[in-house]
Amino acid sequence: MKERVLVIGSAGQLGTELVTSLRDIYGESEVMASDIRNPENMNGPFTQLDILDKAAFGRLIQSFKPTQIYHLAALLSGTAEKNPKLGWTLNMDGLFHVLDAAKENDFIKKVYWPSSIAVFGSNTPRQNTPQNCVMDPNTIYGITKLAGERYCEYYFEKYGVDVRSLRYPGLIGYKSMPGGGTTDYAVSIYHEALKTGKYTCFLNEYTYLPMAYMPDALRATLELMHTDASNVKVRSSYNLAGISFSPKEITAAIQQTLPDFEISYEPDFRQAIADSWPQSIDDSVAMNDWGWNLEYDLNKMSVDMLDNLTQMYQTS
Ligand code: SER
Repeated sequence: MKERVLVIGSAGQLGTELVTSLRDIYGESEVMASDIRNPENMNGPFTQLDILDKAAFGRLIQSFKPTQIYHLAALLSGTAEKNPKLGWTLNMDGLFHVLDAAKENDFIKKVYWPSSIAVFGSNTPRQNTPQNCVMDPNTIYGITKLAGERYCEYYFEKYGVDVRSLRYPGLIGYKSMPGGGTTDYAVSIYHEALKTGKYTCFLNEYTYLPMAYMPDALRATLELMHTDASNVKVRSSYNLAGISFSPKEITAAIQQTLPDFEISYEPDFRQAIADSWPQSIDDSVAMNDWGWNLEYDLNKMSVDMLDNLTQMYQTS
Protein backbone atom coordinates (compact mmCIF):
# COMPACT_ATOMS: atom_id res chain seq x y z
CA MET A 1 0.00 0.00 0.00
CA LYS A 2 1.24 3.46 -0.86
CA GLU A 3 1.66 5.52 2.29
CA ARG A 4 0.72 9.19 2.52
CA VAL A 5 1.71 10.93 5.73
CA LEU A 6 0.29 14.10 7.26
CA VAL A 7 2.37 15.85 9.96
CA ILE A 8 0.46 18.38 12.07
CA GLY A 9 2.73 20.79 13.96
CA SER A 10 5.52 20.39 11.42
CA ALA A 11 7.32 23.64 12.31
CA GLY A 12 7.97 22.65 15.93
CA GLN A 13 11.10 21.11 17.44
CA LEU A 14 10.10 17.53 16.69
CA GLY A 15 8.08 18.20 13.53
CA THR A 16 10.96 19.91 11.76
CA GLU A 17 13.15 16.83 12.09
CA LEU A 18 10.44 14.22 11.72
CA VAL A 19 9.27 15.60 8.38
CA THR A 20 12.81 15.21 6.99
CA SER A 21 13.04 11.60 8.24
CA LEU A 22 9.58 10.73 6.91
CA ARG A 23 10.38 12.22 3.49
CA ASP A 24 13.56 10.10 3.35
CA ILE A 25 11.38 7.03 3.90
CA TYR A 26 8.20 7.81 1.91
CA GLY A 27 9.32 10.43 -0.63
CA GLU A 28 8.90 14.18 -0.50
CA SER A 29 5.53 14.40 -2.26
CA GLU A 30 3.98 11.74 0.03
CA VAL A 31 4.59 13.69 3.24
CA MET A 32 2.41 16.77 3.79
CA ALA A 33 3.74 19.17 6.41
CA SER A 34 1.23 21.42 8.17
CA ASP A 35 1.45 24.02 10.88
CA ILE A 36 -0.30 27.14 12.07
CA ARG A 37 2.90 29.04 11.19
CA ASN A 38 4.59 29.09 7.83
CA PRO A 39 7.97 27.38 8.21
CA GLU A 40 11.08 29.40 7.45
CA ASN A 41 13.13 27.04 5.33
CA MET A 42 10.99 24.10 4.41
CA ASN A 43 10.88 22.53 0.98
CA GLY A 44 8.18 20.12 -0.13
CA PRO A 45 4.42 20.09 0.31
CA PHE A 46 3.08 22.34 3.08
CA THR A 47 -0.43 23.43 4.07
CA GLN A 48 -1.11 26.08 6.66
CA LEU A 49 -3.48 24.57 9.24
CA ASP A 50 -4.90 25.53 12.63
CA ILE A 51 -5.85 22.12 14.00
CA LEU A 52 -8.65 23.78 16.01
CA ASP A 53 -10.34 24.64 12.69
CA LYS A 54 -12.13 21.32 12.27
CA ALA A 55 -13.66 22.22 8.88
CA ALA A 56 -10.28 23.18 7.39
CA PHE A 57 -8.75 20.00 8.83
CA GLY A 58 -11.58 17.97 7.28
CA ARG A 59 -10.93 19.53 3.87
CA LEU A 60 -7.22 18.74 4.13
CA ILE A 61 -7.97 15.12 5.09
CA GLN A 62 -10.34 14.66 2.14
CA SER A 63 -7.98 16.22 -0.39
CA PHE A 64 -4.70 14.63 0.77
CA LYS A 65 -6.15 11.33 2.06
CA PRO A 66 -3.34 10.46 4.48
CA THR A 67 -2.79 6.85 5.51
CA GLN A 68 -0.87 8.04 8.58
CA ILE A 69 -1.14 11.16 10.75
CA TYR A 70 1.55 12.43 13.11
CA HIS A 71 -0.22 14.92 15.37
CA LEU A 72 2.43 17.00 17.15
CA ALA A 73 0.76 20.39 17.65
CA ALA A 74 0.56 21.30 21.36
CA LEU A 75 1.44 23.92 23.94
CA LEU A 76 4.37 22.70 26.08
CA SER A 77 4.61 22.85 29.87
CA GLY A 78 5.86 26.41 30.39
CA THR A 79 3.61 28.01 27.79
CA ALA A 80 0.50 26.13 28.90
CA GLU A 81 0.99 27.37 32.50
CA LYS A 82 0.91 30.92 31.15
CA ASN A 83 -2.19 30.30 29.04
CA PRO A 84 -4.09 27.41 30.67
CA LYS A 85 -7.27 27.83 28.63
CA LEU A 86 -5.48 27.66 25.29
CA GLY A 87 -3.28 24.83 26.64
CA TRP A 88 -6.36 22.74 27.40
CA THR A 89 -8.22 23.65 24.21
CA LEU A 90 -5.36 23.14 21.78
CA ASN A 91 -4.01 19.98 23.40
CA MET A 92 -7.39 18.27 23.83
CA ASP A 93 -9.55 19.49 20.93
CA GLY A 94 -6.65 19.08 18.51
CA LEU A 95 -6.33 15.44 19.58
CA PHE A 96 -10.11 14.87 19.35
CA HIS A 97 -10.15 16.19 15.79
CA VAL A 98 -7.40 13.77 14.80
CA LEU A 99 -8.82 10.73 16.63
CA ASP A 100 -12.30 11.39 15.21
CA ALA A 101 -10.89 11.74 11.68
CA ALA A 102 -9.17 8.35 12.07
CA LYS A 103 -12.38 6.81 13.46
CA GLU A 104 -14.47 8.17 10.57
CA ASN A 105 -12.11 7.62 7.60
CA ASP A 106 -10.94 4.08 6.86
CA PHE A 107 -8.05 5.29 4.70
CA ILE A 108 -6.34 6.66 7.87
CA LYS A 109 -4.59 3.52 9.12
CA LYS A 110 -2.32 4.85 11.89
CA VAL A 111 -2.01 7.85 14.19
CA TYR A 112 1.01 9.00 16.17
CA TRP A 113 0.55 11.34 19.14
CA PRO A 114 3.29 12.29 21.60
CA SER A 115 2.80 12.13 25.35
CA SER A 116 5.38 13.23 27.90
CA ILE A 117 7.07 12.60 31.25
CA ALA A 118 4.76 15.44 32.35
CA VAL A 119 1.98 12.86 32.87
CA PHE A 120 3.68 11.99 36.16
CA GLY A 121 3.33 14.01 39.35
CA SER A 122 4.40 14.45 42.94
CA ASN A 123 3.14 11.05 44.14
CA THR A 124 4.80 9.18 41.28
CA PRO A 125 8.00 7.28 42.16
CA ARG A 126 10.70 9.65 40.86
CA GLN A 127 13.47 7.13 40.23
CA ASN A 128 13.09 4.55 37.51
CA THR A 129 9.45 5.53 37.12
CA PRO A 130 7.52 2.44 35.98
CA GLN A 131 5.17 2.24 33.00
CA ASN A 132 2.19 1.89 35.32
CA CYS A 133 2.09 3.81 38.59
CA VAL A 134 0.42 6.78 40.32
CA MET A 135 -0.04 9.60 37.82
CA ASP A 136 -1.07 12.90 39.36
CA PRO A 137 0.22 15.67 37.08
CA ASN A 138 -0.06 19.19 38.45
CA THR A 139 0.55 21.18 35.27
CA ILE A 140 -2.01 21.96 32.58
CA TYR A 141 0.31 20.35 30.04
CA GLY A 142 0.65 17.15 32.09
CA ILE A 143 -3.11 17.02 32.72
CA THR A 144 -3.81 17.26 28.98
CA LYS A 145 -1.23 14.61 28.18
CA LEU A 146 -2.65 12.18 30.75
CA ALA A 147 -6.22 12.81 29.57
CA GLY A 148 -4.98 12.42 25.98
CA GLU A 149 -3.41 9.05 26.82
CA ARG A 150 -6.72 7.83 28.21
CA TYR A 151 -8.52 8.99 25.06
CA CYS A 152 -5.98 7.26 22.80
CA GLU A 153 -6.46 3.98 24.61
CA TYR A 154 -10.24 4.47 24.54
CA TYR A 155 -10.30 5.09 20.77
CA PHE A 156 -8.18 1.98 20.24
CA GLU A 157 -10.36 -0.20 22.46
CA LYS A 158 -13.77 1.10 21.36
CA TYR A 159 -13.22 2.06 17.74
CA GLY A 160 -10.08 0.17 16.67
CA VAL A 161 -8.08 3.34 15.93
CA ASP A 162 -4.42 2.26 15.60
CA VAL A 163 -2.96 5.06 17.69
CA ARG A 164 0.60 4.84 19.02
CA SER A 165 2.41 7.08 21.48
CA LEU A 166 5.61 7.69 23.43
CA ARG A 167 6.06 9.57 26.68
CA TYR A 168 8.98 11.67 25.54
CA PRO A 169 11.55 12.95 27.95
CA GLY A 170 13.06 16.37 27.09
CA LEU A 171 14.21 16.37 23.47
CA ILE A 172 17.64 17.68 22.52
CA GLY A 173 18.72 18.39 18.95
CA TYR A 174 20.77 20.88 16.94
CA LYS A 175 18.48 21.26 13.92
CA SER A 176 15.55 22.93 15.67
CA MET A 177 14.78 24.84 18.86
CA PRO A 178 12.20 23.82 21.47
CA GLY A 179 9.52 26.30 22.45
CA GLY A 180 8.07 26.82 25.91
CA GLY A 181 9.16 23.64 27.70
CA THR A 182 10.78 22.99 31.08
CA THR A 183 13.52 20.87 29.52
CA ASP A 184 14.49 23.56 26.95
CA TYR A 185 17.57 24.57 28.95
CA ALA A 186 19.35 21.43 27.76
CA VAL A 187 19.23 22.74 24.18
CA SER A 188 19.92 26.44 24.90
CA ILE A 189 22.94 25.56 27.01
CA TYR A 190 24.85 24.17 23.98
CA HIS A 191 24.04 27.23 21.85
CA GLU A 192 25.12 29.67 24.57
CA ALA A 193 28.26 27.65 25.35
CA LEU A 194 29.39 28.20 21.77
CA LYS A 195 28.08 31.73 21.30
CA THR A 196 29.02 33.39 24.62
CA GLY A 197 30.81 30.78 26.76
CA LYS A 198 28.23 31.35 29.52
CA TYR A 199 24.74 30.23 30.39
CA THR A 200 22.25 31.17 33.10
CA CYS A 201 20.08 28.15 33.82
CA PHE A 202 16.43 28.48 34.91
CA LEU A 203 16.67 25.21 36.88
CA ASN A 204 19.01 24.59 39.82
CA GLU A 205 22.20 22.59 39.42
CA TYR A 206 20.87 19.34 40.94
CA THR A 207 17.66 19.07 38.92
CA TYR A 208 17.77 15.62 37.33
CA LEU A 209 15.44 15.16 34.37
CA PRO A 210 15.21 12.49 31.68
CA MET A 211 16.20 13.73 28.20
CA ALA A 212 16.72 12.10 24.79
CA TYR A 213 18.94 13.04 21.88
CA MET A 214 16.90 13.67 18.75
CA PRO A 215 18.33 10.79 16.65
CA ASP A 216 17.24 8.38 19.41
CA ALA A 217 13.83 10.05 19.77
CA LEU A 218 13.23 9.94 16.01
CA ARG A 219 14.32 6.32 15.78
CA ALA A 220 12.04 5.37 18.69
CA THR A 221 9.11 7.14 17.03
CA LEU A 222 9.64 5.48 13.65
CA GLU A 223 10.34 2.05 15.15
CA LEU A 224 7.10 2.23 17.14
CA MET A 225 5.15 3.36 14.06
CA HIS A 226 6.68 0.67 11.85
CA THR A 227 6.37 -2.31 14.16
CA ASP A 228 3.52 -4.73 13.60
CA ALA A 229 0.32 -3.61 15.36
CA SER A 230 0.31 -6.82 17.41
CA ASN A 231 3.56 -5.71 19.11
CA VAL A 232 1.99 -2.48 20.34
CA LYS A 233 0.50 -3.69 23.60
CA VAL A 234 0.37 -0.29 25.30
CA ARG A 235 -2.21 1.96 23.66
CA SER A 236 -1.99 4.82 26.14
CA SER A 237 1.70 5.71 25.75
CA TYR A 238 5.08 4.02 26.23
CA ASN A 239 7.71 5.19 28.74
CA LEU A 240 10.93 6.23 26.98
CA ALA A 241 13.88 6.62 29.35
CA GLY A 242 16.54 8.51 27.44
CA ILE A 243 19.45 9.85 29.51
CA SER A 244 19.05 11.38 32.98
CA PHE A 245 21.34 14.21 34.03
CA SER A 246 21.39 17.49 35.94
CA PRO A 247 22.47 20.95 34.74
CA LYS A 248 25.70 20.40 36.69
CA GLU A 249 26.42 17.18 34.78
CA ILE A 250 25.65 18.56 31.32
CA THR A 251 27.95 21.47 32.19
CA ALA A 252 30.76 19.04 32.99
CA ALA A 253 30.14 17.22 29.69
CA ILE A 254 30.33 20.51 27.74
CA GLN A 255 33.48 21.52 29.63
CA GLN A 256 35.26 18.45 28.27
CA THR A 257 35.15 20.20 24.88
CA LEU A 258 34.93 23.84 26.08
CA PRO A 259 36.87 23.98 29.39
CA ASP A 260 36.15 27.71 29.94
CA PHE A 261 32.38 27.34 29.75
CA GLU A 262 30.66 28.86 32.83
CA ILE A 263 27.19 28.27 34.22
CA SER A 264 25.12 30.22 36.75
CA TYR A 265 21.68 29.46 38.15
CA GLU A 266 18.51 31.54 38.44
CA PRO A 267 15.63 29.11 38.94
CA ASP A 268 12.21 30.43 37.87
CA PHE A 269 8.65 29.02 37.87
CA ARG A 270 9.82 26.03 35.83
CA GLN A 271 11.77 24.69 38.85
CA ALA A 272 8.50 23.62 40.50
CA ILE A 273 7.41 21.89 37.29
CA ALA A 274 10.72 20.02 37.03
CA ASP A 275 10.51 19.04 40.70
CA SER A 276 7.16 17.33 40.07
CA TRP A 277 8.55 15.19 37.22
CA PRO A 278 10.53 11.92 37.36
CA GLN A 279 14.31 11.96 37.51
CA SER A 280 14.70 8.71 35.62
CA ILE A 281 12.37 6.41 33.69
CA ASP A 282 12.00 2.65 33.31
CA ASP A 283 11.36 1.86 29.63
CA SER A 284 11.67 -1.92 29.83
CA VAL A 285 8.11 -2.36 28.50
CA ALA A 286 9.08 -0.60 25.23
CA MET A 287 12.23 -2.76 25.10
CA ASN A 288 10.22 -5.95 25.50
CA ASP A 289 7.28 -5.08 23.24
CA TRP A 290 9.04 -3.66 20.17
CA GLY A 291 12.77 -3.96 20.83
CA TRP A 292 13.60 -0.39 21.86
CA ASN A 293 17.27 0.38 22.68
CA LEU A 294 18.96 3.71 23.38
CA GLU A 295 22.13 4.68 21.51
CA TYR A 296 23.37 8.04 22.87
CA ASP A 297 24.67 8.77 26.36
CA LEU A 298 25.40 12.25 27.72
CA ASN A 299 29.00 12.45 26.47
CA LYS A 300 28.29 11.04 23.02
CA MET A 301 25.37 13.45 22.63
CA SER A 302 27.40 16.45 23.86
CA VAL A 303 30.26 15.80 21.42
CA ASP A 304 27.80 15.44 18.53
CA MET A 305 25.76 18.55 19.50
CA LEU A 306 28.87 20.73 19.82
CA ASP A 307 30.36 19.43 16.55
CA ASN A 308 27.20 20.11 14.59
CA LEU A 309 26.45 23.48 16.19
CA THR A 310 30.05 24.61 15.62
CA GLN A 311 29.67 23.83 11.92
CA MET A 312 26.28 25.54 11.85
CA TYR A 313 27.58 28.75 13.43
CA GLN A 314 30.64 28.76 11.15
CA THR A 315 28.54 28.57 8.00
CA SER A 316 25.80 30.99 9.11
N1 SER B 1 9.84 18.87 26.97
C1 SER B 1 8.51 19.03 27.48
C2 SER B 1 8.39 20.23 28.32
O1 SER B 1 9.37 20.58 28.94
C3 SER B 1 8.13 17.83 28.28
O2 SER B 1 7.43 16.97 27.48
O3 SER B 1 7.35 20.81 28.40
